[in-house]
Amino acid sequence: MKIHSIAAGVLVIGVMASCAKAPPPVNEPLPVEQPKTPVLQPKTNEPIQPVEDAKVTDPAMVELGKQLFFDPRLSKSGFISCNSCHNLSMGGSDNLKSSIGHKWNKGPINSPTVLNSSMNLAQFWDGRAKDLKEQAGGPIANPGEMAFTHELAIEVLQSIPGYAEEFKKVFGVDKIDIDQITRAIAAFEETLVTPNSRFDKWLKGDDAAITQNEREGYELFKSSGCTACHNGPALGGNSYQKMGVVEPYKGSTNAVGRSAVTGKDADRFNFKVPTLRNIELTYPYFHDGEAATMAKAVEVMGQIQLGKTFTPDENAKIVAFLKSLTGDQPKFVLPLLPPSSDTTPPPAPFK
Ligand code: HEC
Ligand code: HEC
Repeated sequence: MKIHSIAAGVLVIGVMASCAKAPPPVNEPLPVEQPKTPVLQPKTNEPIQPVEDAKVTDPAMVELGKQLFFDPRLSKSGFISCNSCHNLSMGGSDNLKSSIGHKWNKGPINSPTVLNSSMNLAQFWDGRAKDLKEQAGGPIANPGEMAFTHELAIEVLQSIPGYAEEFKKVFGVDKIDIDQITRAIAAFEETLVTPNSRFDKWLKGDDAAITQNEREGYELFKSSGCTACHNGPALGGNSYQKMGVVEPYKGSTNAVGRSAVTGKDADRFNFKVPTLRNIELTYPYFHDGEAATMAKAVEVMGQIQLGKTFTPDENAKIVAFLKSLTGDQPKFVLPLLPPSSDTTPPPAPFK
């Protein structure tokens, strides 16, 4: 066998060598047509990778999850939906320092974007929910957010014929439960990715997709050390890091970060590194929302994480780079929610 294949190899080389001199044989295959546009050379050695399109495996479940995401009847008031605080018209956030919950309750922390949240190693600033499904049960029952109970949410949905039918179609059973609700919401959230930012086009080889200024901002972002924490496709979401490595951060809330979950003192003031995708849309910044502008956030990061003071020009370049990270926002038809029935428990907005 071995001898045979070596012999065959020699034969091929022999034929190829002879081709160079002899005229081509009549049955030679036609030359392959060259593509007219030059082939893009993706930049594969960068600490940041492009965001890929979402792969939808169960469109009916995603559609149901979309309805639930927009449905305020999952709250006690009948007024607050996931979209109230993660507004998909505003980068999946509420653009407030801290969210407003049931009965105008002031939330304890800034609302992170739901865009690209499927890339996070865990959910919440302190990572206390292991994934999107586990996370989705939280706000419904949180007294300061939607202030409902899982039992009541199920009762409401079950009383709405349109939902009863849809859950049956998607999950194949008559009884709605919280597991189905959170699975559907998570399936919808998994579709909320933002590919095709100009920076991603540049990563994929289109050199003209970002300006010289933005390019210089990216080089500064890398050479200053920002990519130590903000890396991967989401530029974050993949580790917990101390807020205040070089200098302590004086937050305006009493959030302690990761140590609230692990109980370890070493994790005090460690937070999940937020994604910088669509950062232009998700102001204000930091877990306490204290940085109103990107320039301020970059300035603080330089100082307290890296011990660096950027010149106004350097700061502006980094900000310009960060703006090139805004990708295609999820586009879809606003879901129509099935009407309540005579037996649907009424909302209690002021109780
Ligand atoms: C009243 C405002 C409010 C409502 C309503 C709300 N959220 Fe949130 N959401 C927040 C805040 C604030 C946080 C951050 C909490 C924390 O980290 O402790 C958060 C965190 C999240 C995260 C984690 C993102 C990350 O990067 O860690 C996801 C995902 C999320 N919410 C999805 C939802 C879904 C789904 C619903 C509806 C079932 C919902 N939220 C309802 C305010 C809200
Ligand atoms: C040691 C890790 C680390 C380094 C280095 C680092 N960051 Fe951060 N970054 C974080 C963490 C953690 C947060 C969230 C902190 C918080 O809110 O408590 C954050 C938050 C941010 C935010 C706000 C995001 C939001 O949605 O609130 C921006 C913008 C940012 N960083 C940019 C930068 C830039 C630019 C650099 C380089 C100059 C940098 N970071 C360096 C860990 C880091």
